[in-house]
Amino acid sequence: MTQARFITLEGGEGVGKSTLASGLVRWLDTRGVQILQTREPGGTPIADEIRRVFKSPPAGEDITPETEALLVCAARAQHVAKVIKPALTSGQWVLCDRFADSTRVYQGLFGGVGINEVERLIKFSTGGLEPDLTFLLDCDVTITAGRIGARGADPKGDDVARYDQAGHQVLDRLRQAFRKLAGFYPARFYILDASLPPEKVLQDACAELERRWKL
Ligand code: TMP
Repeated sequence: MTQARFITLEGGEGVGKSTLASGLVRWLDTRGVQILQTREPGGTPIADEIRRVFKSPPAGEDITPETEALLVCAARAQHVAKVIKPALTSGQWVLCDRFADSTRVYQGLFGGVGINEVERLIKFSTGGLEPDLTFLLDCDVTITAGRIGARGADPKGDDVARYDQAGHQVLDRLRQAFRKLAGFYPARFYILDASLPPEKVLQDACAELERRWKL
């Protein structure tokens, strides 16, 4: 049996993470690897409840960046302890749509909580667990903005999709923050050109999996 691997998908809004996730699950299956597919914030009943508050906070009260950081990290603590670590320990691979890098970018680099505070929260909530490989879906914001516009209401149905009304400038700042982060962890990150058709993005991701782990 191959060693269980922890893979994450990251990127701004509308970059095609869900499509890539389904494609990877199917492809890995053809290689005899069953992978547990999950997402953040969420992934357990308690973490999903926290996601609900995070994505649709009650009206009439602004949520502070610090509260946001604590919420996503609380959800992650539950997710890591109850789902991700047990799966990896039992030998199962895990594919997670967003993980701690989203906190580093959205709350740390972008949201102004500060990267040092965010790193402390991440370490506390994950016990130091980091992915073996992170695919960053990177795409020019004129393309992602078009996709976000085309998909209309939040496809996951659980909020006002907080960045869907964001302008190009905001989307581009998010993109640059992710690229900067990838530069901090060059061995872990693999950048995919998400402006390509989905089948090409998948092909590139699978080639990287083959290269790294001889699947
Ligand atoms: P998504 O499931 O549609 O990608 O939505 C998740 C949203 O939550 C997205 O806007 C990014 C944001 N987010 C954070 O701000 N911090 C985090 O740690 C995570 C996991 C997500």
